[in-house]
Amino acid sequence: LKYGNESINRPLIHMTPSYGWMNDPNGLWYDAKEKLWHYYFQYNPNDSVWGLPLYWGHATSKNLTTWDQQDAAIAPLKNDSGAYSGSIVVDVNNTSGFFDNATDPRQRAVAIWTYNTPDSETQYISYSTDGGYTFINYDGNPALSNNSTQFRDPKVIWHEESQKWIMTVAKSQEFKIAIYSSPNLKNWTHESDFTKEGLLGFQYECPGLSKFSAPQSDNATYPTNSTDSTKWALFISINPGSPQGGSSTEYFIGDFNGTHFVPDFPYTSILDLGRDFYALQNFYNSPDGEVYGIGWASNWMYSNYVPTDPWRSSTSLVRKFSLEEFQANPESKLLNIKSTPVIDYDTLNFGETFSYENETFDTNNSLSYDLSKNFDGLIEFNLTYTVNGSAFGKSDFADLSLYLIGDSNSDEYLRLGFEGNAAAFFIDRGNTDVEFVKENPFFTTRMSVNNQPSRYIDSEISQYKVYGIADRNILELYFNDGSQVSTNTYFFTGGNFITEVDLEVGVDGVYQIEEFKVRQMTL
Ligand code: FRU
Repeated sequence: LKYGNESINRPLIHMTPSYGWMNDPNGLWYDAKEKLWHYYFQYNPNDSVWGLPLYWGHATSKNLTTWDQQDAAIAPLKNDSGAYSGSIVVDVNNTSGFFDNATDPRQRAVAIWTYNTPDSETQYISYSTDGGYTFINYDGNPALSNNSTQFRDPKVIWHEESQKWIMTVAKSQEFKIAIYSSPNLKNWTHESDFTKEGLLGFQYECPGLSKFSAPQSDNATYPTNSTDSTKWALFISINPGSPQGGSSTEYFIGDFNGTHFVPDFPYTSILDLGRDFYALQNFYNSPDGEVYGIGWASNWMYSNYVPTDPWRSSTSLVRKFSLEEFQANPESKLLNIKSTPVIDYDTLNFGETFSYENETFDTNNSLSYDLSKNFDGLIEFNLTYTVNGSAFGKSDFADLSLYLIGDSNSDEYLRLGFEGNAAAFFIDRGNTDVEFVKENPFFTTRMSVNNQPSRYIDSEISQYKVYGIADRNILELYFNDGSQVSTNTYFFTGGNFITEVDLEVGVDGVYQIEEFKVRQMTL
């Protein structure tokens, strides 16, 4: 085996703790003084399954691609309790009064988090005078309580228009996202509840509000106020009971006036259509004012069993989110959140690159790329193809299949692709010798992504695009430049990294490959 036991299958550019258990991203913020990104996470350092006492683990990054793990930053007060999910803001103007001139205004980090005990969930605040490495609990905690055991995951932002701090927090089992305001982070006023909207599942968790610039359009078919230059999105995570099974993150687009969030449309959208993207949180204070976020790349349906040791769970890549008009079908455009993966290619080295362009791609010209030189388990691909809808019958399985195959055991592979009659992309991660996968039907059940063309070329021919990145045991797929995303973990036996990529079709005359480029990367 190429790697020591402790690092087998540990992704290279997805954050994982070196040991212990991780779930939700917490406290994401950018330190403008040090030019450093901070990421905290739900952390059980004592075991590789979820359990109490639960801490805020911590990691930092200069490039949003590689991470340095730091000591845990926030501890619960007792062993039967947890420092549950929450967020961090930078209190530049010292509205809280926690700081003096010794702390640079750009580093005045205040954490707002849920203290979970057997009897209650209340909101605590803690502040850091050393740039986010250690925190001091406010002596007036809890800053907010509601006589409840299901009141958690505060995400705080600064609302420029009303000059107030705004908190969204879940009254989870009432299906309410409560909105509170505060002048000083210590005293909170209840403003409104966003309740029983969208997909509910079993409960609401991990809400968040983010502000976007609105795309301007002359011919939008969605109701829009074209004078709006900004739009707000409210993100809510639901678990269990999401449409993909288990946990997922949905969002609404609308307006926020400092007290109420009002969605523009009655529909909700799922941010990532895969099975491993939950509890999204966006960074506070990004340097360019754009929205960047991270999801937990797992699913409560099976997160405690996935075969990694002595650590468990990874994040998604950092994503940049933007609001776009999305062609949902030939007649309708909708507002949609587009996801772009953030990868600092300067920190990576490149191995082999293969690329292919051809007129038509038939059953007699399947491709096989050998990526076994200098492999490190990290590859990306771009695939753009057209589908001729008149070239296959109603009962043909007209697929374009990509096989991502393991090095030391070729019986272990991912099969992904498109099928013409379904007009959908499929993802099959069930072909492996790993016991957990064979035994866990929640993991093995196949997935699909209803796949919109990136372009309608004529009435029969449509173009589709997908970008994929596989990092040892996590695969992220971005369709049509990120209009839709599907993130899924996969598990091969230790060190059996993907080193072969094959492309095949089921029916002749259907597919034309405009581009197929596969690139191997190492750290
Ligand atoms: C979501 C969640 C949060 C909670 C945390 C506890 O995954 O259940 O609601 O704060 O995990 O670890």
